[in-house]
Amino acid sequence: RTEPLVLGIESSCDETGIGIVRGDKLLTNTVSSSMDEHVRFGGVIPEIASRAHLDAFVPTLRQALDEAGVRLDEIDAIAVTSGPGLAGALMVGVCAAKALAVATGKPLYAINHLVAHVGVGVLDGGKLPDNLGALLVSGGHTEILRVTSLTGDVQLLGSTIDDAAGEAYDKVARILGLGYPGGPAIDKLARTGNPKAIRFPRGLTQPKYLGTAEEPGPHRYDWSFSGLKTAVARCVEQYEAAGEELPVADIAASFQEAVVDVITAKAVLACTENGITNLLLGGGVAANSRLRELTAQRCAAKGITLRVPPISLCTDNGAMVAALGSQVVMSGAEPSGLKFAPDPSMPV
Ligand code: KG4
Ligand code: ZN
Repeated sequence: RTEPLVLGIESSCDETGIGIVRGDKLLTNTVSSSMDEHVRFGGVIPEIASRAHLDAFVPTLRQALDEAGVRLDEIDAIAVTSGPGLAGALMVGVCAAKALAVATGKPLYAINHLVAHVGVGVLDGGKLPDNLGALLVSGGHTEILRVTSLTGDVQLLGSTIDDAAGEAYDKVARILGLGYPGGPAIDKLARTGNPKAIRFPRGLTQPKYLGTAEEPGPHRYDWSFSGLKTAVARCVEQYEAAGEELPVADIAASFQEAVVDVITAKAVLACTENGITNLLLGGGVAANSRLRELTAQRCAAKGITLRVPPISLCTDNGAMVAALGSQVVMSGAEPSGLKFAPDPSMPV
């Protein structure tokens, strides 16, 4: 039996993504981002993102089909992100996907965006190992998942209780006057600073939150980044009040160290305590050099095999939706039909 040709549609945030895969093989990953339109607001504006999806959908679809060298009628199935994400943005992708499914008569599969960040792993290195953990870090999410089965059993072990890590990068970059999106700017600047210059707080690491392996506290594998952001703001205020020059690189490096230290420490803890021996890193913040470095170090120290897909597959894209879609099709699952609605707060 030949592997299915699957078209994936992603529109949960500011990326309009169309991906086409055959089984585990990537044919195209075409992305149009409305990031430029959000820059002057310092964050994604939902209404603008929705309108941008509407503008970008057909051109992106055409380009993807062109790049993959396939015709719409050759596609075996359509997969679309149905949540979590921005309601209006999801709505555009889901409506477009339903229209395509009706027009082509092909089965439609509703896909969970978070699980798709994991499923994309098959496009880089083939079948995912059993006993897999996934650390997803982006502007919209920060989660550690246990993936027993990509197409069935996925469990949330921990997540942020307030800001996502990428959001913390963006907010701190704004405080430091580095522009938006702030992650890449802080990453770059941090290389010239001292990560030990300032000891910023690691959220939810007090014993009352952590507990012990035997008696876990309420937030053993969870993160919080809003206190860290406030600590950076206070620090900047103190320098300004004292009339001293801001050590921007040291603050960036120290902030980054606090984020990356607590993310990797808790992710590795969740893995070791749950017998997870393989970890996949995903989300836009996977581009961060220090996060890659420390995750690799700490995984190696605990005998965890780390997989990091290329960054074009880590940021939001349609190929990840197509990749998980093809796994779902191959599992023999029923299509989702045409009645499902987007779910902005869809759980894993
Ligand atoms: O996955 P993504 O493209 O979109 C979603 O948020 O879903 O992630 C974007 C986020 C932004 O917050 C951006 O600041 C952050 O990822 N980011 C980084 C780096 N590159 C992007 N954060 C830290 N270091 C980076 N090198
Ligand atoms: Zn995402």
